[in-house]
Amino acid sequence: MMDPFLQANRELWQHWTRINYASKTYDVDGFKRGDNRLDAVVREGVGDVRGKSLLHLQCHFGLDTLCWARLGARVTGMDFSDEAIRTARTLAQETGIAANFVCCNLYDLPQHLTGEFDIVFTSHGVLSWLPDLRAWGKIVAQFLKPGGLFFIAEAHPTAYIFDDDAENDLRVRYRYFPSSSPDLFEVHGSYADPTNEFRGVEYAWTHSLAEIVGALLSAGLRVADLREYPFNAWQMFKFMEKDADGWWCLPDRFPQIPLMFSLKANKE
Ligand SMILES: C[S@@+](CC[C@H](N)C(=O)[O-])C[C@H]1O[C@@H](n2cnc3c(N)ncnc32)[C@H](O)[C@@H]1O
Repeated sequence: MMDPFLQANRELWQHWTRINYASKTYDVDGFKRGDNRLDAVVREGVGDVRGKSLLHLQCHFGLDTLCWARLGARVTGMDFSDEAIRTARTLAQETGIAANFVCCNLYDLPQHLTGEFDIVFTSHGVLSWLPDLRAWGKIVAQFLKPGGLFFIAEAHPTAYIFDDDAENDLRVRYRYFPSSSPDLFEVHGSYADPTNEFRGVEYAWTHSLAEIVGALLSAGLRVADLREYPFNAWQMFKFMEKDADGWWCLPDRFPQIPLMFSLKANKE
């Protein structure tokens, strides 16, 4: 039986999949025409994927997964929303891209998938949905080949402490350090289309940078690279500005703070 908080989040993602699929942010038509939507940080961080097996954790409806396949990887994507996985499979069929998609709770993946991968990848908006990062680290390690690469690019835990309702300033509103119970947020529309009329709730867990790194170390992985960036992949605050490369930044009047991080780890 799935945890009731995760069940509620899965319900939310069923709705968000439909909204996001139709949104300009995801630009599915552009993807179908051949656009590759993987950003420069993940492209550079993961490197050459040709001929490699790649497992994409929390793949949503598979756009990034299929983009890795276009670059030559043999891909498997996993997500707990059956709406997302159904959409991912349809997209793979429509575009003629070979891909395997698995629908399950991340924590149940060992019951649904076997094997080890050259690369385990996850990115942009994944960790706050997970209650237990130690268990997440073990899943990452279990599905990685010896010598394999784990890569994550994600919003920086520091950025999550600020009030996301504020109109024009950074105001500390949320704790930095993890707690065992999630926070409840009311949701209007989706992050990809805030104008949508949908109303729902989400449960989110706070994770600190030390907790994230510690989860991977305690699973036996070696952290090879950790970087921080003064921009993020999505708009976290109303007053952020998009730069020429498509990253969301704070206006110049703010001192630079970390808004995103990337991390590489290896299984030895
Ligand atoms: C923000 S999306 C991933 C974003 C991806 N980078 C993208 O833009 O396509 C987060 C994904 O995590 C999935 N998810 C959340 N909790 C999960 C869980 N416990 N097990 C598996 N998937 C989960 C959601 O269904 C959603 O598709």
